[in-house]
Amino acid sequence: MHNKLANSHSPTKPYLAGLAVPVRELHGGHRDEILHHLLLLNEEDRRLRFGTQTPDEVIHHYVEGLDFNKDSVFGSFDSQLNLIGMAHLAYLPVSKGHAKAAEFGVSVLPDGRGQGIGTALLARAAVHSRNTQVESLFVHCLANNRAMMHLAQKAGMRVEYAYGDADAYLTLPPANPSTIVEEAANEQWADFDYAIKENLKRSNDVWSWFLGRPGTRTT
Ligand SMILES: CC(C)(COP(=O)(O)OP(=O)(O)OC[C@H]1O[C@@H](n2cnc3c(N)ncnc32)[C@H](O)[C@@H]1OP(=O)(O)O)[C@@H](O)C(=O)NCCC(=O)NCCS
Repeated sequence: MHNKLANSHSPTKPYLAGLAVPVRELHGGHRDEILHHLLLLNEEDRRLRFGTQTPDEVIHHYVEGLDFNKDSVFGSFDSQLNLIGMAHLAYLPVSKGHAKAAEFGVSVLPDGRGQGIGTALLARAAVHSRNTQVESLFVHCLANNRAMMHLAQKAGMRVEYAYGDADAYLTLPPANPSTIVEEAANEQWADFDYAIKENLKRSNDVWSWFLGRPGTRTT
């Protein structure tokens, strides 16, 4: 199968959604936004995201435990700067004789779905994986998760089913100058996009205040 993520080398023509949808790398200062995003997921979406029933306390615990020095977390923000999509790239412990691997988990809020955000987060995680010497990217999902399966297969991942679950794998080629430039360009584009949204939001908030209207928040 054609492997779109693994074979995209050109910085001007990467996996297209990666450029259309700006993706930022998140840090510890985003913990509250990550928590807010995950708590907005309904019961079924949480089950699809984490593979099991996930009450609020578990989400609190998960977010508190995120280690931004060890793993990478990526986010996509909407025009109101709400974290509409996020992905966690968790590096798996390196064992002797095995290639470095990482697990990808993703969620997009219902309002943002079908616009390429999930695809862009996967593309960004894949290029970041390559640039950090990860050779194998892995997604664990429930076999009935049609959207994630579609996303994974579209990216050229090999999917294996077992006992109602599915594991999708992507073997990544090593980084090269293009992947480094691609990631840097994505990061710059995402910072620029965020700054524009921030300015627009500020001026909208000022006008709302001036006209006596409450500020906007979509989620
Ligand atoms: C899976 C998820 C991240 C996808 O996010 P998204 O932003 O909608 O993804 P995209 O818009 O990039 O792509 C979705 C693709 O799946 C397709 N799709 C959506 N629902 C589908 C379904 N039920 N069956 C088949 N394909 C489906 C869309 O048509 C689209 O395909 P296209 O790009 O070829 O048109 C989102 O649905 C989600 O957050 N689900 C809950 C959490 C979850 O399941 N996480 C994955 C497990 S870690």
